[in-house]
Amino acid sequence: MSYHEYDPSAPYLHLLSVPVWGPLRERLAAVLAGVDPAAGTVLELGPGSGLGTEVVLDTVPDAPVLAAEPSAALRAVLLARLSGRPDAARLSVYPGGAAAVPLPDRIAAVVGLHMVGHLAPGQRARLWPALAARLAPGAPVVLNVQPPDTAVAVPEFPPMSVTVGRFTYQGTGSAEPTGPDSVHWRMRYATLDGDTVLDEARAEYDWWILSAAGLAAELAAAGLAVESTEQDVVVARR
Ligand SMILES: C[S@@+](CC[C@H](N)C(=O)[O-])C[C@H]1O[C@@H](n2cnc3c(N)ncnc32)[C@H](O)[C@@H]1O
Repeated sequence: MSYHEYDPSAPYLHLLSVPVWGPLRERLAAVLAGVDPAAGTVLELGPGSGLGTEVVLDTVPDAPVLAAEPSAALRAVLLARLSGRPDAARLSVYPGGAAAVPLPDRIAAVVGLHMVGHLAPGQRARLWPALAARLAPGAPVVLNVQPPDTAVAVPEFPPMSVTVGRFTYQGTGSAEPTGPDSVHWRMRYATLDGDTVLDEARAEYDWWILSAAGLAAELAAAGLAVESTEQDVVVARR
């Protein structure tokens, strides 16, 4: 079944994610620096436009990288950005998400950033042990969680803005609780020429609430050793 929730955000997501990725890039690189490229495949879940994929390719030379991205619109952005790299032959972009991607037998590292909220509790309960069983000894899992960490209403935040050429790209969002551990996000995007709105887009998705401590407990229950939950980035190892 094709996945369309991110279609409207495709022109915006990369531009607006770059500033968010500032400190995360170094954090991810620091964890991946010790990965043994001979230990297996680096699996990235929900790479979006590939901001994390670039870090993986730059930091773990020679390892095959499997990036599982269910959104066709975002796969287009990812492939357009990264398929021209000299080392692109080792990057495989799977057209499907975490539940669909055939897991490699031997995994050197798992990366999933700004995406864990897309995974329902039952899906996570199946995924973590399946990953743990395939991870090489000492191999890291790097995931993060995002606010809110309880199912509360989130008022629309001041728009994030990035200007390219004459035009400014903006994004904001708000969320409403839909259950004890889920919210529904409504994202709004716009392209502006000064005060003139040239384009508007809306994207909506359900999001499962999970705190860093909750994610750490799930990974520990799957047999992984949690190393850090600093700044909502959860690092665990086989
Ligand atoms: C907020 S974006 C984050 C993209 C990228 N990881 C980043 O940090 O810039 C969430 C991503 O998760 C993807 N996604 C949604 N459901 C997924 C699933 N079940 N498995 C894997 N990825 C999923 C979306 O298509 C999107 O690319």
